[in-house]
Amino acid sequence: MATLVNQDVSIRHLAEGELPLLEQMYESFAPRHAAMGLPPEERCRRRAWLENLVHGMNLVAVRGARIAGHLALMPCGRAAEMAVFVHQDFRRQGIGTALTRAAMEEAGRLGIRLVWVLVSSENFIALNGLRRMGFHIAWESMGEVQLVYRLAPATEAADGARNGKELAGCDTLAPARSPTLPAR
Ligand SMILES: CC(C)(COP(=O)(O)OP(=O)(O)OC[C@H]1O[C@@H](n2cnc3c(N)ncnc32)[C@H](O)[C@@H]1OP(=O)(O)O)[C@@H](O)C(=O)NCCC(=O)NCCS
Repeated sequence: MATLVNQDVSIRHLAEGELPLLEQMYESFAPRHAAMGLPPEERCRRRAWLENLVHGMNLVAVRGARIAGHLALMPCGRAAEMAVFVHQDFRRQGIGTALTRAAMEEAGRLGIRLVWVLVSSENFIALNGLRRMGFHIAWESMGEVQLVYRLAPATEAADGARNGKELAGCDTLAPARSPTLPAR
């Protein structure tokens, strides 16, 4: 897959061997530690975090030789946690939106029914953007908000009894065990 955001920026899967390029994006990323402690401040913790994320599905927005944005989906059964980061040099150009849309398409192809993201309740930029893209708040507690996006067909999504099934057996609703967050 390769999707164009504009004539300069395209979205594709992170290729094998591109971890150093991804690390480079986070090297100058600002502010660090602002999105639920992510990306981690210290280089070694950032590397450990990224080495864990590459086990999931990773999309990157690329401009020339540079990674401008990164989205990771960490599947667990029919649900997946999402984290999205756009480098400050490239924000407000639709890259976060394009990465998220591409990720929802990929999630659908992988048979994922529900995508969730954990953000700080003060992260109004992410909250605004995610809600505009169709995420809605599942719960909010102690400064943390979980937003979810359902990919299930309407009839399934309307069936409250089934909604819990996507997350059955996953630890994903417990923020302390969120797969995108570094160990506390
Ligand atoms: C959240 C983030 C990924 C958005 O990336 P982006 O490429 O700038 O987002 P987009 O350009 O696609 O903007 C999408 C929408 O988000 C909202 N938004 C983005 N930047 C905003 C800002 N500075 N002020 C207010 N709203 C903003 C708007 O609703 C915007 O739509 P609009 O431009 O049509 O008004 C980026 O700001 C970022 O990396 N933040 C730090 C990490 C983070 O918080 N990640 C989210 C949780 S994992």
